[in-house]
Amino acid sequence: MTPDVLCRPATVSDMRKIAQLMQPLVDQNILLGKEMVVLYESVQQFIVAEIDGEIVGYGALHVMWEHMGEVRTLGVIDRVRGKGVGHRLLTALEQHALRLGLSQLVSLTFEVEFFRRHGWRILPDAAPVVAADVYAELLRSPDEGIAEMLDLAHVKPNTLGNTRMLKTLRPAAAGSAPAAAGAAPAAVAGSTRENAERARDERLGDED
Ligand SMILES: CC(C)(COP(=O)(O)OP(=O)(O)OC[C@H]1O[C@@H](n2cnc3c(N)ncnc32)[C@H](O)[C@@H]1OP(=O)(O)O)[C@@H](O)C(=O)NCCC(=O)NCCS
Repeated sequence: MTPDVLCRPATVSDMRKIAQLMQPLVDQNILLGKEMVVLYESVQQFIVAEIDGEIVGYGALHVMWEHMGEVRTLGVIDRVRGKGVGHRLLTALEQHALRLGLSQLVSLTFEVEFFRRHGWRILPDAAPVVAADVYAELLRSPDEGIAEMLDLAHVKPNTLGNTRMLKTLRPAAAGSAPAAAGAAPAAVAGSTRENAERARDERLGDED
């Protein structure tokens, strides 16, 4: 039976628990480890899933550029895996990305089938994540997760066996469930580059 899951924005008092729950996955090189200070700095990026008041899952959305964000640090405790908690978290992060006005999401993951079932596609190794001019800008980021996404040499050992995946977000059709209260409407029209990238994404999807 699907348990009652509450997905909500994380608070500072959740961050130590998230760090504790992440640790086994960090030890297995499945998630990128983060210092406590980095976790506190990124509290606004995190959501948590609770069952009966207990945190059983967590996930974060990191904005990379004007159109693109990364789903990262998504985890569900072993005891409740396969019950739809991951689905709830990923869906909430995707909806949040739409509300922020993002049109594409990427993630670096071993959980290819899970993401695929949510409409994500594999980004082939040779395929650039972003256009060359944006890539040059992203190189300026001090964020280690971005370095991993760009597959830079100094983080290469961390990314072995991981798959880069991508999803183009589409705002919900008119008449479907409304966005959360207070949410900004998602942008529908994209820039020329966004449209080009969306077309590329759709091509990749056809090859998938
Ligand atoms: C990826 C991860 C977050 C998924 O969490 P989860 O709670 O098990 O996810 P779900 O239950 O929604 O889906 C898992 C499977 O259970 C099945 N499932 C979903 N709802 C279900 C339900 N109510 N009952 C039974 N099975 C269900 C789904 O079909 C799904 O199959 P799939 O993986 O082939 O798509 C979890 O496996 C995890 O923590 N992995 C390690 C960390 C990681 O790699 N994170 C991703 C990179 S950031």
